[in-house]
Formats: sequence, structure tokens, C-alpha cells
Amino acid sequence: MLLVVVLAFIVIGLFLLVDLRKPIHFPPGPQWLPIVGNIFVIHKLRSVYGFFHLIWHHFYEKYGPVMGIRIGRTFFVIMSGRDAIRDAYNTDAMNGRPNGFFYRIRTFNKRLGVVFNDGDFWDTQRRFSLKILRQMGMGRANMNEHIEQECTEMVNFFKRKSANGQLIEMQHAFDIPVLNILWTLVAGYRFEYDDERLQNLLKMIHECFRVVDMTGGILNLFPLIRHFFPIRSGYKPLLNAHKPLWSFLQEVVNETKTKHSSERPKSFINSYLEEISNSTHSSFSDEQLLSICLDFFQAGTETTSNTLSFGLMYMIHNRDVCDKVHAELDAVIGKKRFPILQDRNHLPYVEAVLSEILRFSNVAPLGIAHRTTDDTTFREFIIPKDTVVLISLYSLNMDKDYWRDPNVFKPERFLNENGEYISHSEQFLPFGLGKRRCMGEHLAKASLFLYFATFMHAFQMIVPSDIPLPNIQPNDGITLQPKSFVLQLKPRF
Ligand code: HEM
Repeated sequence: MLLVVVLAFIVIGLFLLVDLRKPIHFPPGPQWLPIVGNIFVIHKLRSVYGFFHLIWHHFYEKYGPVMGIRIGRTFFVIMSGRDAIRDAYNTDAMNGRPNGFFYRIRTFNKRLGVVFNDGDFWDTQRRFSLKILRQMGMGRANMNEHIEQECTEMVNFFKRKSANGQLIEMQHAFDIPVLNILWTLVAGYRFEYDDERLQNLLKMIHECFRVVDMTGGILNLFPLIRHFFPIRSGYKPLLNAHKPLWSFLQEVVNETKTKHSSERPKSFINSYLEEISNSTHSSFSDEQLLSICLDFFQAGTETTSNTLSFGLMYMIHNRDVCDKVHAELDAVIGKKRFPILQDRNHLPYVEAVLSEILRFSNVAPLGIAHRTTDDTTFREFIIPKDTVVLISLYSLNMDKDYWRDPNVFKPERFLNENGEYISHSEQFLPFGLGKRRCMGEHLAKASLFLYFATFMHAFQMIVPSDIPLPNIQPNDGITLQPKSFVLQLKPRF
């Protein structure tokens, strides 16, 4: 008996010792513990820094642009700084996506959709989706006209809501306007701004972006934990947020199906359903269609809407910038109409302000997690297969050497000495780069420009004297979100 106990101790001791060892040529980082990895270090740093992306930034400063940790049994490499990030984006074997429990909850516990997929399945689905979205008008003149019409709806809506000096909650104010553009492409129709069911769905999306972070959290590492801590692990909130979303999307798809093909609206869903009937590629299915719609719904709305709300917040805090935006709009557009997309080239200051909003807000501080699909040699390191690669876009936006004063909101950094817009495309990558670059970049840029320019042109923003200025510290999560804030709006003409 004693011998068995001694042997058991030796085996466990050896396992723990081996588990302490790092893979050969693994990037530098803190020493990890057996089984749990660096969980405790991260937990401690979270209480110091408050935000996950700030923990990764602290690691960048301490260990350099390519550093490694282990969370549970999963290896993570964090890429920071321009050179490492550009090289990582251009390394094919780093273009996979993690495939854990957390990443599959959204898509019926299967590996579906485009965002958390890779390989041939992802390639076929991404190409097809982009082709159809372009056919539906993404990046074309008719989509821009849709956005312009939606901008008029938005202005009328805010005018009605702000009558009699009422305060308006701005944290999610752009959700439905932003979604309407996407939904016109995806399903062929738009929503009314007071659609309560949609408002609730969007609220739940915002909530589930808050309960987790890009590592997938504890739920991804120890999925069984959901049985003991269903709420704290994030499992129940995620499920509760997704169930109504699945039902809603299923209804939309069913509605399209029941219509005769000649009556169906021209839409992504319609073209996808036709492809399911005609294609021989096994990746096309009803569940995959629902998952892609969910991807678009989540990736497209939260990011764009949060950026716009952050933008208004910064305008309140930087009145001089707000005045310059109004002055440029008045000079170029006049007070008889709202901006259209063709005005963009004549509004360099507005363009610069929008870029500065994207830089300063860091709405997607880590983009979306990547995964190595093979053992990968990267500089002097070897990164094992299935390592999660986090790309710190935050480190680009907050690079002191490049921007000099990154913590100052200063649109002028995106203008040259002649007042012309400069993109800083070497350093400024809010939509990522390479094969996994954002699929909605055109749509996002057109929406951001038109909604922001139209809103600014239409309204003067007032914070009543008895209300403090909005707190610009964001809420943490997969994306950063502005805190709740209210405004009074006064039409400018
Ligand atoms: C301000 C707005 C937006 C920002 C800042 C943004 C940013 C990003 C970033 C950083 C990525 C990850 C790139 C990578 O993995 O390296 C991404 C991916 C993605 N975005 Fe966006 N995005 C925005 C709007 C949109 C919109 C409107 C859509 C609508 C279709 C969209 C759809 C997607 C999809 C589907 C992916 C995943 C692509 C893939 O994995 O192949 N995004 N976005």
C-alpha cells in the first residue's frame, strides 16, 4: 500500500514538473504553474489594470513584442508593436481561429460561421459571402444611397425624441440605424427604431460582449465549470443571449423560405438558400446560414455602433474639435442638405476626426483571436500548433514612439501640413490586415462617415449643467463599449 502511495506521489510530482516546462524556443513570458498556467498572474494584473488589453500591454513592455503565456493548458502568444503585428498577419499558419467550447456556443456547439472558422470550410464560405454581399450592393453606390436614406430617418427620429429638451440615452443610440444597413443587405428589409424585440436582442448582444474576453475566459479552458458556476462562468448569460437570437434568425430564414422565389426580396439570405439547393460543397447548410447571419449581426453592429457613441462622447469632451467639425460641414455642405459619401474627399477634418475616434477608442483592442494551424517558426521562436495568437491593435494605437502623445485626442495627427487627410496605413490597422481582415470594412467606413457627419451636421449636443460630463473610461469585454451617457440635442438648422 505504502509503495502505491509513494509511486502515486512520484508520478504526480513528475507530471507537475513536466507541466512547468515551456516548449522549446517558446516566446518569453512569466513562469507558469502546472495545470492552471498563468491564470493567477492574469487575475492579479486584472485587478491592477482593470482591462485585459492593458494586461497584454504590460506584458509587451516587460517581455517584448512577441511574448507567451499559458492559460489552463492552452498556449497564448501576444503580438504587439508594428513589425511583429504585420509579420503575424502575413504568416499563413497564424490565420486559423481558436476552436474551443466558448467559440462554439454561439453556433449550436458546432464549428460554423466565418468568424470562428478556418481552413477550406472558412475559405469557401468567406469568398461566397463576400461575393454575395457585393452583389447585394456592399461597397457600391446603391448601398451608399441606402445609408443616406437611413441617415435621414435617424435625424427625424432624434428630432422627435429630443423635442421639448428631453434627454436621450446615447450609449446604444446607433444600434438600429447601423443594423438597418446590414439587414437591408442580409435580409432585404429594415427595422423601425422603436422595435422593442430588436432593441432587446441588441441589448443582449451588448451584454454578452461584456461577460467574456478574447481569450474565451475560464469557460473555454474548463468547460465543465459551467455546471458549477453557470452565471459567473458566463455560460448562462451567453446562452440566454443567443437563444432569442437563434429564434429570431430562424424566423427570418423561414419567412424567406415560405415565399415563392419571385416574391422574395433580393438578399444575402435568399442567395444563400439558392446556393444550399445548388451547391455540391458540403459546407452550405441551414445552420451555417444562421451562423453567418449571427456573425454579421454581432461583428457588424457592436463595433460600428460603439465607435459612433464613443465619437459623440469625445466631441463633448473636446469642444474645439466639435466646433471645427461643424465649421467644416457648414463650409462644404451648407445648411440646406446632409452630407453624402461623395463629400468625403472634401471633408478631410471630419475624416481625420473619425480616424482619431477609431484610434483613441480602441473599440476592438485585440481584433479577433487567431490560432496557429501548425508548429510555426516566427523570428527566433517556435510557436506550437493550436496556440492562440492575440494581436494587440491597442499597442499600435497607443505607440508613444509613433504618435508621441497617444493619450491625447488630436485629429490633426491624421492631417498633413496642407490639411490633407493621411491614413497612417503602416501603423493604423483598425480593421486588421491580410486574409482575415474585416469583411465589413467598406460597409463600416461608409456607415461611420455618413452617420457621424450627418449627426454632427444636424445637431448641437448639450450636456445640462446639472449632469456631469460622460465618463470616457470604457466598459471591458470582447470589444470596448462606452459607458451610459445622456445628451440634449438641438437641431442646427
Ligand atoms: C467600426 C467597425 C468595425 C471594426 C473596427 C471592425 C474590426 C474588425 C477586426 C479588427 C477584425 C479581425 C481581423 C483579424 O482577425 O485579424 C474584424 C473581423 C471581421 N469583421 Fe469587422 N469591424 C467592423 C465592422 C464590421 C462590419 C460592419 C461587419 C459586417 C459584415 C464586420 C464583419 C466582420 C467579420 C465577418 C469578420 C471576421 C472575418 C474573418 O474571420 O474572416 N465588421 N473586424
